[in-house]
Order: sequence, then C-alpha cells, then structure tokens
Amino acid sequence: MVDVLLGLQWGDEGKGKIVDFFAKDYDMIARFQGGPNAGHTLYVQEKKIVLHQIPSGVFHSNTINLIGSGVVLDPVVLKKECDLVESFGVDLRKNLFISERTHLILPTHRALDKASELSKGNQKIGSTLKGIGPTYMDKTGRNGLRVGDLMDKSFITNYIKLRLKHQRILDSHSFNEDIHEWEEEFFEAVEFLKSLNIVNGEYFVNKHINEGKKILAEGAQGSMLDVDFGTFPFVTSSNTISAAVCNGLGIAPQKIREVMGVSKAYCTRVGSGPFPTELENETGEKLRSIGSEFGATTGRPRRCGWIDLVALNYACMINGVTKLILTKADVLDAFDELKICIAYKIDGKETTQMPFQMSRIKIEPILSTFPGWNKDTTNVKSFSGLPEKMKTYVEFINKETGVDIHYISNGPGRDQLISVN
Ligand code: GDP
Ligand code: IMO
Ligand code: MG
Repeated sequence: MVDVLLGLQWGDEGKGKIVDFFAKDYDMIARFQGGPNAGHTLYVQEKKIVLHQIPSGVFHSNTINLIGSGVVLDPVVLKKECDLVESFGVDLRKNLFISERTHLILPTHRALDKASELSKGNQKIGSTLKGIGPTYMDKTGRNGLRVGDLMDKSFITNYIKLRLKHQRILDSHSFNEDIHEWEEEFFEAVEFLKSLNIVNGEYFVNKHINEGKKILAEGAQGSMLDVDFGTFPFVTSSNTISAAVCNGLGIAPQKIREVMGVSKAYCTRVGSGPFPTELENETGEKLRSIGSEFGATTGRPRRCGWIDLVALNYACMINGVTKLILTKADVLDAFDELKICIAYKIDGKETTQMPFQMSRIKIEPILSTFPGWNKDTTNVKSFSGLPEKMKTYVEFINKETGVDIHYISNGPGRDQLISVN
C-alpha cells in the first residue's frame, strides 16, 4: 500500500516537516521525481537540516528510504548530504537505497542550465540552476546516463560522448566557465555513490508492497510547478502530481491509497512566473519576514501572497487529494485582516478555473476578507484550543475545497502539528 504526500502550491509548503512527522508510521519513504532543486527542511535534535535528494524519513531508524527511478540525482550533492546525515549517527548503508534507473546530473547539465537561463534574459524561469531541466531533456531525448550505468565499463566512453555533445551546445552559447573542478568533484562523488545500496527500484518497491509494508511517496516541488499542469513555461521539468508516483517508482495506480496534499495557509513562490495573489507591498513583506520565506536551496526571497483557492481546488482535482494538511498557519497570527482568493477576474469575467496560460493575460484575484485572530497559536496543542476566528478561516478553506483538513501546522518544530479530528 502506498500513500502520497505532495505540495499543492509552488513548492516549499512544508513537505519535509510533515514527512518527518509521519515517517515513523511507514516502512519506506520514497522520492519519485525532482532532484536537488528541492529543499526540504526538518529539525533533528533541535538542529535545522535541509535535505535535497535524500527522503525525509532518513532520521527514523526503522524506516528505509528510496531514491526512485523518476528522480534526477547529482552525486556531488548526494555525497555532501550523506556526510551531513551520517554526522547524526544515521547508518545509510542500512536505510538508504537508490534505483539503478535514476538519471544522473552531470557537471555539464548544471552548466547547460546556467547557459539556458542566461540566454532567456528577463524571460528566465528562475531555475535553481541544479541541472534539472537539461538532465530530464537528456532522459526524454534518450541520451542520459543512469546510476546503474556507473557499474559498466562503457560508462566513461558514454560520459565523454555526452560531454562533447553538451560542450558543442555550451560553445554555441559562448559559455566558457571552467568546469574541470566540477568534474573532479563529480568523479570523486561517483565512487562514493557506487558504495551505496543500488537496487532495482521497481522490484524493490513492489516486493515491499506485496509483503504488506507501508510506503509513503514524498513529492518535491508543487503541483503548480508540474511540467504539464503547472504555470508553464514557469515550471520545473518533472511531473510533480500524484500520477507521477506510478512512473517514478514503477508501481500500479491501484496500489495508491491516500493522497495527502500540503498547502500553506497563505501562498509563496520562488523564481519567475505568474502568481495572481502576490502581494508586492508591506503585507507581502510581513508574510515573508514572519514566515522566514527564503528559499531552502538557493536562499532567494520567496514571493508571498494570499492563499489561492482557484489554484488549490485545481491542485486537489488533478491529484485526487483525499486529505489536506495546512501549514504555517501560525504565520497569520499577527494580522488584523486576512484574505482568501475565491475566483479570478479575467477580461471583466469571473472564473474559478485555472486558465491554460497565465503569462499573457491579466488576472485580478477576487478576494474574501476574514478578520485576523491576533493571538499567538504556536503553543496550542489541540484544534479546540485554536482561536474561533482561526477556525472560521480554516473551515472556509475546508468547505471551498471539499477536502477535509486533517492537520494544521503551527510552527516549524516536530511537535507543532495539530490533529483536526
Ligand atoms: P518543503 O520544500 O515543502 O519541505 O518546505 P521548505 O522546507 O522549503 O520550507 C518550509 C519552511 O517553513 C521551512 O523553513 C520549515 O522549517 C518552515 N515550516 C514548516 N512548517 C511550518 C509551520 O507550520 N510554521 C512555521 N512558522 N514554519 C514552518
Ligand atoms: P521543494 O521540493 C520551490 C522552482 C524554481 C524555479 C522553477 C524551475 O523544496 O518544494 P528548476 O530548478 O526546477 O529548473 O526550477 O521551479 N522550484 C522550486 N520552488 N520549491 C522547490 O522544491 C522548487 N524546485 C524548483 O525556483 O522557479
Ligand atoms: Mg523547499
């Protein structure tokens, strides 16, 4: 049986904290897409840790962790992450597994990402520059190299072939940064990667399912960054929605049970692209400063705005969300007034549907106003202890999405999570 936990907005919804919270109830946590563009924050022994590629269950000794076939993996980032995780006494030889089908991010993929963004000028995506797009391009273009290929003696020849191909593209972009140092690091990290548990991911995961084990698939990025259903072209290069769990792990759709969707009580976005409820004013700055809204991977300030129910309902629909988890509700503790977007006005017409493209049109959000609760909620332990005005705000989201909110997160800490039932 497989449950899914994923982000419903533009990423950074607090997925890492929630996966870490649930991990003890699962036998396996599996990443199924994305790569080191992700930054999932958790607190272990009061220390803040940001994981990019290792699943967020790694600090629970009875839970194994799988980097699935749909992920794109940078060995250099992985080695650094492993060193950090091991410094907490975690035995990665025991609880980390990597699928042999996982595609490798090469140093030239990172260079190509940089060159591509530079060539786009002010139309740039705002990529994390981790090489994600070029690596997925080589996967679908049938040129990429995979973790399992590292064991073959043809690896180096194939690496050189692909590197030359990349070099020609880089030359055409007049990209002349010296990547020799990146390559040195890469080959050192490759040796380390070869010493980890590399498995046939689809047999590995299905064997666990057949033995009755519980698996949690951990999403990266968010539904609005999905390459097909997000705000294209300002998206990432993978499918981030629940359907991608099947592709990314090699499991059948009927194995999926719950789809848990995580949304902030407001909304953020990092990088370029449409964001109808964005607040480019003092209120937006207040959200950013109280919510510490700075990217976990790049440190960039996150754009902030009100929660958007048009986008959230759309995300619930395309994912088949069965349970909602509302995070960072405490960030709204100190506002006199709050707003929720219930529809868009486009060309004078109201709609509750996401338009197919959002970059060339002007979208005016239709907002409902709610009174703020103006109370510190970070120490509250039960739903009944929350301020009435906060309950009204939460219940409105519940009613409009038609999906029950099961948990409300009221702080970054492991114990700051309130069960609604
Ligand atoms: P992810 O990518 O979805 O895992 O989210 P990130 O880790 O990139 O960003 C979420 C940030 O919010 C992290 O700094 C978390 O420590 C923090 N966070 C998570 N949940 C809460 C919450 O309920 N309240 C507050 N104030 N911070 C939270
Ligand atoms: P987590 O898992 C927020 C954004 C980038 C950029 C766009 C494309 O932590 O929620 P890419 O590097 O994929 O080429 O960038 O997607 N982006 C994220 N934003 N959280 C993430 O991951 C993201 N991963 C990518 O900022 O706008
Ligand atoms: Mg993040």
